[in-house]
Amino acid sequence: MSVRKLFLLPGDGIGKETMAEVRKFITAMNEKFGSGFETEEGLVGGSAYDAHGVAISEADMEKALAADAVLFGAVGGPKWDSVPYEHRPEAGLLRLRKDLALFANLRPAICYPALANASSLKPEIVEGLDILIVRELTGGVYFGAPKEIIDLGNGQKRGIDTQVYDTYEIERIASVAFELARTRKNKVCSMEKRNVMKSGVLWNEVVTATHKAKYSDVQLDHMLADAGGMQLVRWPKQFDVIVTDNLFGDMLSDIAAMLTGSLGMLPSASLGAPDEVTGKRKAMYEPVHGSAPDIAGQGIANPIAMIASFAMCLRYSFNMIKEADDLETAIANVLERGIRTGDIMAEGCTKVGTEAMGDAILAEFLALA
Ligand code: NAI
Ligand code: MG
Repeated sequence: MSVRKLFLLPGDGIGKETMAEVRKFITAMNEKFGSGFETEEGLVGGSAYDAHGVAISEADMEKALAADAVLFGAVGGPKWDSVPYEHRPEAGLLRLRKDLALFANLRPAICYPALANASSLKPEIVEGLDILIVRELTGGVYFGAPKEIIDLGNGQKRGIDTQVYDTYEIERIASVAFELARTRKNKVCSMEKRNVMKSGVLWNEVVTATHKAKYSDVQLDHMLADAGGMQLVRWPKQFDVIVTDNLFGDMLSDIAAMLTGSLGMLPSASLGAPDEVTGKRKAMYEPVHGSAPDIAGQGIANPIAMIASFAMCLRYSFNMIKEADDLETAIANVLERGIRTGDIMAEGCTKVGTEAMGDAILAEFLALA
């Protein structure tokens, strides 16, 4: 059995508590299935600042680069509000994304049937929803130059951001979307604004060409991003994989996420380019939520976002499809039985803490194996 190298960065606040639940799965899978996970653990965010005076140490960066996958908890909290800007907790997260060159951000929006009532949309619109937003993460208007505020000297200033995309950036994110679609319902919808943006014209052209060259077995549709936003709340189940740029992806993935209920439920993955020799992609998996200082240390955080992030890790970094499917089914079954943390609590359900939720999902997961 090959070794699977995981680097764990619990971070701050509830990151520590939810990562502890994932550790139980890793241990159990090694013991019961001989999964061969080797774990190392490091510090990131405020915890790293307290220990080393930086948001992530060079030694931990090296471990992240050497691992097959990084599991990231959450960073931040009021304790570090006044640390120097370059050492703020989020700097650790940004450094990881940049140095691992994680250009593809995967945000699934899955609506577990048991939680269909928790959505702000009608249950029939969201029940059974399973879509995946693939957002370009390292290019576009957040990074393009020039990016500045110019003093025009007449009492006016001008703020400038520049949307820039090169062919290779669009090609590689489109390829990720098409490859993922092949493992799902085989459908990709690409969203841009080619009607008003040159980068949108190029985006459309390159996605179409990539499709034609390598992925013509996948169904491809195009939608203007604003219309896409409308369709996401009108009838989200029409989508399978949505691929879009950094800016539109930021907004569309937040919209899609909220279709499904609590922040405590939402996992994410960020992938880099495949290694030229091994074909393996650098990858980091993390919940969408932050360190939740308001509930940290109380043992009540919902660990599902972190556990579901681990399920994505099994799927995308290790191709452990059965295990990933089982883990997602285990989450659904436990919710179906009415076991709930406070953030997703509903009438007639049983309220549990972080550990009891983790234990219930683990027991169900092992029973499915
Ligand atoms: P947050 O996501 O930490 O919390 C927002 C609200 O959702 C809080 O009321 C919290 O209790 C609740 N919540 C979040 N996750 C939950 C879970 N798993 N179970 C139950 N309830 C949960 O966002 P907020 O409050 O804006 O930020 C808190 C800190 O986290 C800040 O320092 C912020 O910078 C940082 N942050 C870090 C992120 C990361 O590490 N990726 C992402 C977002 C915020
Ligand atoms: Mg956002």
